[in-house]
Amino acid sequence: MTDRTDASTSGMDNHANEARSFAPPAPFAAQANVDADAYGLGADSERFWADQARAMLTWKTPFTQTLDWSQAPVARWFADGTLNAAHNALDRHVQAGNGDRVALYFEGEPGDTRQVTYAELLTEVSRAANALQSLGVKTGDRVVIYMPMLVESVVTMLACARIGAPHSVVFGGFSADALRSRIEDAGARIVVTADGGWRRGAPAALKPAVDEAIAGLDPSHPGVDHVVVVRRTGQEIGWTQGRDLWWSEALEAADTRHDPVFVEAEHPLFILYTSGTTGKPKGILHTTGGYLTQAAWTHWAVFDLKADSDVYWCTADIGWITGHSYVVYGPLVNGASQVIYEGTPDAPHRGRWWEIVQKYKVSILYTAPTAIRTCMKWGEQIPAQFDLGSLRVLGSVGEPINPEAWMWYRRVIGGGSTPIVDTWWQTETGAIMISPLPGVTATKPGSAQVPLPGIGATVVDDDAAPVPNGAGGYLVITKPWPSMLRGIWGDLQRFKDTYWSRFPGIYFAGDGAKKDQDGDIWLLGRVDDVMNVSGHRLSTTEIESSLVAHESVAEAAVVGAADETTGQAVVAFVIVRAQFAELVTDPAQAAALQEQLRNHVGKQIGPIAKPRRILIVPELPKTRSGKIMRRLLRDVAENRTVGDATTLADSSVMNLIARKM
Ligand code: WT7
Repeated sequence: MTDRTDASTSGMDNHANEARSFAPPAPFAAQANVDADAYGLGADSERFWADQARAMLTWKTPFTQTLDWSQAPVARWFADGTLNAAHNALDRHVQAGNGDRVALYFEGEPGDTRQVTYAELLTEVSRAANALQSLGVKTGDRVVIYMPMLVESVVTMLACARIGAPHSVVFGGFSADALRSRIEDAGARIVVTADGGWRRGAPAALKPAVDEAIAGLDPSHPGVDHVVVVRRTGQEIGWTQGRDLWWSEALEAADTRHDPVFVEAEHPLFILYTSGTTGKPKGILHTTGGYLTQAAWTHWAVFDLKADSDVYWCTADIGWITGHSYVVYGPLVNGASQVIYEGTPDAPHRGRWWEIVQKYKVSILYTAPTAIRTCMKWGEQIPAQFDLGSLRVLGSVGEPINPEAWMWYRRVIGGGSTPIVDTWWQTETGAIMISPLPGVTATKPGSAQVPLPGIGATVVDDDAAPVPNGAGGYLVITKPWPSMLRGIWGDLQRFKDTYWSRFPGIYFAGDGAKKDQDGDIWLLGRVDDVMNVSGHRLSTTEIESSLVAHESVAEAAVVGAADETTGQAVVAFVIVRAQFAELVTDPAQAAALQEQLRNHVGKQIGPIAKPRRILIVPELPKTRSGKIMRRLLRDVAENRTVGDATTLADSSVMNLIARKM
């Protein structure tokens, strides 16, 4: 833990007095997939999840064991069963006569569209699986995917799953350096990418970053044998003969039929890197049977999915866990029809999302508070131009949603009646853990409220004792759950240290939370050195390491400061090296250096990590043991009176820093 146990978040904890509550509309409750009895069934969590595993999935070999916790904290769920994720997402729907159902309504940013049925998706995934195998990919090999939101991206993930080759998707907004370190850590020898994708009307390149990442690989890495490239933008790209090949050519040559590789339930399905409290991203490992069970059940229950009539749209990119669980695996395992959209909400105009909702008659929309706040800022006259009457469930994920944004979402997008599910979960949890059930729970603006049936979650104090209603503390998960991470790739000790050491035997999520008078849970943001910018997780330490890697920086401290739109914004405090000290006394030179540093971080990690502000300061506030007190810096960054500074080694430091604001 750090000094930051004050669990304050994006400065939006104005929900202390929030007392509104909205009962599910009676007609909605009457047709809902799940009723209140589910909580009773969930009390026997192992039995509950075993029932769901049988109901939601098709097993090649049925399992007889539910949970093996003997190697805690590494769980084994349904371990003697075998199945295949792509078979569950595709073949069985086609075999059941639903091959003609649309799986994906693809909407490209330039306006090109493509509809893919389940039967067509199965054919394309089979071709891709054959193509990957002919390139030497075997069960167990890792495949890195670095792509925009395209049909081919979903196809690639499922093709990997089909041959039991764990995929590791790297968000297209990450830099070549970030991509390189993930290829190295995963030991991947094949990368699937695109020439680029469309972003605000212009092609944004991806392939050059792949070339740069591979060129910079550590000599201990065996090298990348093949790069498969989807042609999307048609831009000029570099080409390495023998290594690079076009997706279209590879697939054309491949057979349209492919026998899925049935794997054990605990076979790795994917690795997804996420920022932690140290500089090195963690490869979060998810396996097959338990992950699919919880992704599918939560997608069906929390969104009240009716696979034959709903049109579902989750706006997340496949580069994040939300894209894995609620674009690819949950919806497709459930046989849903869904929209995937390549671009940004404001291209070519600020009504693009609502135009898409109207066009496809989207009935379930799942997005992030930062997007809702952005639309609020643009004004409600924009969504008002479109018919949003098809919407019947709205979801939120990624960060605490402030009551004001929640109310706007319900009124302007949901027509004043649509249930909102505020879903709390993490890359590590794999699937939703805490959320209202839309036909059951009377929802409260700003609260994720209740652990789902079969999930044990509570708020504890420093001594791991559950807090009484009305009090705050740390969010913990008290029982193993099917979609829990099975570890950090290649680092079992780090897995234990990170999640299981703060409160021995229970999972510590890293979030502060409180229970209200009804016992409902309100999330208050991270209590560790992790920031949440637009629902994306960023590590303060990782950005600090990047800054000090620059020749001009001697020391750096990074904090997440409250921001109206993005939740938090990255603010960096840097001390420059002696030889630059003179230079930065000139305001123009200082501004130039600040810009250089922002770009440096953008290049090392990715544009999302660029500090919003960089302050050049003479000192940093440190305790006598040398620990930086970020809490005080956050006070400065948020223009608050600086809190208790008595534990500082030199208490005058804060005055020096405050003068820089
Ligand atoms: C962190 C996990 C889960 C997919 C997106 C982010 C925060 C997530 C909520 C919510 C309050 C939330 C937490 C969590 N978070 N959802 N509904 N209310 N906070 O996944 O990148 O793994 O980040 O996001 O702080 O620990 P992630």
